[in-house]
Amino acid sequence: MAEAVDLRGQVADVLPLDPYALRADFPILRTETSTGRPLVYLDSASTSQKPQVVIDAVDGFYRGYNANVHRGIYEIGERSTAAYEAARASVARFIGAPDSREIVFTRNATEAINLVAYSWGRRNVGRGDAIVLTEMEHHANLVPWQLLVQEVDGDLEFIPITDDGILRLDVFEVLLRLRPKLVAFTHVSNTLGTVTPVREIVQMAHAAGALVLVDGAQAVPHLPVDVTDLGCDFYVFSGHKVLAPTGSGALWARRELLEAMPPFLAGGEMIREVHLRRSEFNAIPWKFEAGTPDIAAAIGLGVAAEYLMGIGMDRVCAHEAVLTRYALDRLATVPGITLYGPPADQRSGVVPFNVEGVHPHDVAQVLDRFGVCVRAGHHCTMPLHERLDLAATARASFNVYSTREDIDALVAGLGEVVRIFGV
Ligand code: ALA
Repeated sequence: MAEAVDLRGQVADVLPLDPYALRADFPILRTETSTGRPLVYLDSASTSQKPQVVIDAVDGFYRGYNANVHRGIYEIGERSTAAYEAARASVARFIGAPDSREIVFTRNATEAINLVAYSWGRRNVGRGDAIVLTEMEHHANLVPWQLLVQEVDGDLEFIPITDDGILRLDVFEVLLRLRPKLVAFTHVSNTLGTVTPVREIVQMAHAAGALVLVDGAQAVPHLPVDVTDLGCDFYVFSGHKVLAPTGSGALWARRELLEAMPPFLAGGEMIREVHLRRSEFNAIPWKFEAGTPDIAAAIGLGVAAEYLMGIGMDRVCAHEAVLTRYALDRLATVPGITLYGPPADQRSGVVPFNVEGVHPHDVAQVLDRFGVCVRAGHHCTMPLHERLDLAATARASFNVYSTREDIDALVAGLGEVVRIFGV
């Protein structure tokens, strides 16, 4: 059984964060829905809201120094390149990467995983080779590996979970006898909120000769992440879940891996020399950044990383741990509700639930009338829903700007669901 990941250990003695003060940084949180209700945004696992500094960074780029990167020998071109590369350095600091050249900008975590699957995977995974995933992966950390093993005639294996979404590391130990080439798993489940014991899995995988990819899309916005300390080989995340613009994201990989990997996409920017019949490729990370990147989004990601480092990710984590506990306690009072996932001390700010006899889409629609936004459906984890024998769930998820009042509004809205559907 997996060792408990006790978030309380990470958040002890941390000064509390004031979400009410922080909310002033997020213009959208001052808006109202068309029915005149204040926006109660509880879908941050889907995408986060953006603070004014990030919006200003994107606006400032287009208004003040819009020019391509690594090309223009003129003032705004140099400014643009400097801001883009400064963003890379901020992202490296944010996730504890030893060298900013190990950060490849991507559009999102999905693109980063595909990059690894195509570039590293096609070169290193062959016939009969196994890749180990878990039963609770987002489709982004499942389908690219399905395509790879179908192509090379490899094998996928899965670490099972308990009914409350904890990884069965006793079974993982047995799976490692297959000597997998790669173990790829989520740091935090987007559906259940489970925080996985990354260090322990990395140690076990490395001892068996496997490399490790961690999908950090739902972890980076909520927990202090240090890839050096985690010891993994690849770490990916999306910018849009971490207060940054859509179209931003990153792959971190150990330098020697990136250097040995062939390019994923080809074209301008990723080359050093091009001849009609052959080309030489650029150094890392630019070897993996073909074409004009989303410069403004990358700059926004750097600013979001600085904003969160300014708050302190330990404080973000502490705030969300308190909020998650509050949500689990308050939601448990709703008649006919079933909550899914691990105990509060092993989960990040995600709470999936169902109200007996009411389809989650109906739950979400009623909540919407009260300005409360939750996601309903399979949350891009159909195999996990199958494992738990669920067609769908409703899901509330938090971020740095979430408050107890948001959760109170959710609980009040669920009271209406219960009244309307006669639960
Ligand atoms: N991956 C995002 C979610 O879990 C879209 O909602």
